[in-house]
Amino acid sequence: MKYNFDEIIDRQHTNALNTDGFRGYIFHAGPEKKFNYADDEFVRMWVADMEFGVAPEILDAIRHRLDKKILGYTLMYDPTYYDIFLNWCKTRYDWTFPREELTFSPGVIPALYQLVEDLVAKDEKVLTMTPAYGFFLHACEYNNVELVHNDLKHENGHFTIDFDLLDQQASDPKVKLLLLCNPHNPSGRIWTVEELKKIAEIVEKYDLWVISDEIHCDIVRCNNRHTPLGKVMPDYKKLVTCMSASKSFNMAGLMFSHIIIRDAEERAHFIARDKTIGDLNPLSIAAHKAAYEQGGPQHI
Ligand SMILES: Cc1ncc(COP(=O)(O)O)c(C=O)c1O
Repeated sequence: MKYNFDEIIDRQHTNALNTDGFRGYIFHAGPEKKFNYADDEFVRMWVADMEFGVAPEILDAIRHRLDKKILGYTLMYDPTYYDIFLNWCKTRYDWTFPREELTFSPGVIPALYQLVEDLVAKDEKVLTMTPAYGFFLHACEYNNVELVHNDLKHENGHFTIDFDLLDQQASDPKVKLLLLCNPHNPSGRIWTVEELKKIAEIVEKYDLWVISDEIHCDIVRCNNRHTPLGKVMPDYKKLVTCMSASKSFNMAGLMFSHIIIRDAEERAHFIARDKTIGDLNPLSIAAHKAAYEQGGPQHI
């Protein structure tokens, strides 16, 4: 095997939220908090990063960038970046999108906060399938808009969407945005093409904005394939797709994500209001480029 998935890596004292920050984040407590187990005996499955080392190709790319010695203000000027990412999308999901739709954000979370603010007025509502990733709710709370819960049906360990309920909730004229998690965190469901088509039908019927958070799109097993919502809604303008290599390549701390915005007006608005003024981390660009260029040797 080319990669060592058995190496045990000590993450303590690396400022990792996972190890050094769990007391504060989960228990709102400090070192005085006593558990029945030593800290390093916990199986830490609470935050979405993993214990595997980052692939050597990615680490080498970061080192190569460090060797350029200066880490000044950085934006995306490398025209090959889009080509490499697009090739990944084409190979993995049989999906492409025009170059101009690609924008960047330090993360999907900050993008969600900004997009909800852009797309939903204070007396309007956002719809999502629940249980949901917590920051879907936080983004709505931050913006003082209501989040409508479309409870997933749960039978024999399998989650499915209640489409009649979704249609009924989407018909509320105050509902303006569907926050879709595709694949779905926390259920782990990879929505089928049929399910995505039904979602698309409802979105189009009520002319909703839709943000498809596809950050987990490369963590698929058992011959499953990820289908971007954009592939089943090729012409729908009010679609935003969020993707990153951060989860699948275990580099969430590099703070880098793709926000693919079809609508030109919203895209311009999103970029103009970007609080980081579009600045990017030079090491994150190097890492993502290496991941998409060299990170897929396995047969797909
Ligand atoms: C569905 C989903 N979206 C977004 C994020 C976080 O995204 P980012 O680190 O790019 O802000 C997570 C992290 O767990 C997630 O599960």
